[in-house]
Amino acid sequence: MPALLDSVAGLRESVAAWRADGLTVALVPTMGALHEGHMALVRAARAHGGRTVVSLFVNPTQFAPDEDFALYPRTQADDLAKLAEAGVEAVFMPPTKAIYPPGFATTVRVEGVTAGLEGASRPHFFDGVATVVTKLLLQCLPDVALFGEKDYQQLVTVRRLAADLDIPCRIEAVPTVRAADGLALSSRNAYLSAEERRIAPKLFEVLTWMAAALGEGATSANAIAHGTALLKDAGFARIDYLAVCDAEMLEPVVRVEGPARVLAAVWLGETRLIDNVPVSPAG
Ligand code: PAJ
Repeated sequence: MPALLDSVAGLRESVAAWRADGLTVALVPTMGALHEGHMALVRAARAHGGRTVVSLFVNPTQFAPDEDFALYPRTQADDLAKLAEAGVEAVFMPPTKAIYPPGFATTVRVEGVTAGLEGASRPHFFDGVATVVTKLLLQCLPDVALFGEKDYQQLVTVRRLAADLDIPCRIEAVPTVRAADGLALSSRNAYLSAEERRIAPKLFEVLTWMAAALGEGATSANAIAHGTALLKDAGFARIDYLAVCDAEMLEPVVRVEGPARVLAAVWLGETRLIDNVPVSPAG
């Protein structure tokens, strides 16, 4: 069984003991409800050969009042069983007051890369993510912290804050884990009805089609227009965004000339899905 840690002091004590033994430390921040996407991060962390800490904390500050904080799936017993089986040494499960004690008044805000996409649709979101991730990195001070490409803008934001705040930790990206039909695994997939679950993989199909067209020289405007029509036909009634951006700064590009991503957020009924795929310019 992993050690169950619920205080920052306890986490620091464990990390200090490992460091005294000359071991490295990898951190995987999560909000729990673990699936194979999270477990890919855990395996990548374990592959570093040192000790692995997984944090389970549903972070209230990254949810808007009308979002699903109260309903967010909480499956602690299952999560702990999965982490024990994976051989994780410690699970950090702080109560909310350990992360946000009374009087808490500091927000980490990353400008630029958070302005568009998720940041435009969910203005509160990246302040909450940046603040909690900064705290987790400083509480644990791991050698490496792992984040999924599934949440690509989050990954870019975390890289930015770690660099800007001189947090001495490598940020490692892990490719998106998908169901056999292409749907990116997400805790929120549990909200989909059978009919919505049938439609959902079309998001990845359309993004993949767009990436191929862009790689062959299509303009972003053409790919987005065609992609939007395909998504609407497939049954995605509402599209928050469908964009082609450079892979590093996440600025929209007219045509793909270097590493880029196609990124989307769409709705199926009451469920919001996000996904993204890489695009490489034609050789
Ligand atoms: P959560 O949604 O639980 O995701 C935790 C980590 O798992 C993130 O780095 C996310 O990108 C990664 N992940 C989720 N689904 C994945 C998939 N299908 N393939 C690969 N990686 C996947 O993201 C958060 O929590 C929070 O915002 C957090 C960073 C923990 C801050 O609260």
